[in-house]
Amino acid sequence: MSDGEATHRVDGDAHRVDLVWRDGREETVRARDDETVLEAAERADVGLPFGCRTGACGTCTGRLLAGDLDHARPPRALKERHRADGYVLLCVAEPHSSCRVEVGTAVHADLVDNPWK
Ligand code: FES
Repeated sequence: MSDGEATHRVDGDAHRVDLVWRDGREETVRARDDETVLEAAERADVGLPFGCRTGACGTCTGRLLAGDLDHARPPRALKERHRADGYVLLCVAEPHSSCRVEVGTAVHADLVDNPWK
């Protein structure tokens, strides 16, 4: 999906990434092709949760709402069904278009099995 790409790009090589928290907060950062969402957020001084930075722990889990991104390393912390539901690991996820991503600790909490459910 590339809606808004032409109107929102400011650099030739930057993808617009809208970060959305469940409490309604939103921030927009720019990610280069070789940059992960986590790196782009850090460059913009936007704090996102993270741990291992290698795709192993799941602390940085987000959910892709729109756009296109790929994992630069295997997203080992995600089960196949989580990936199918749009969950992504922001420490290894590189945008290839403008993206909209749900972020914050509540997204990772979705993946933890709830024994009472
Ligand atoms: S920080 Fe551990 S999987 Fe991303």
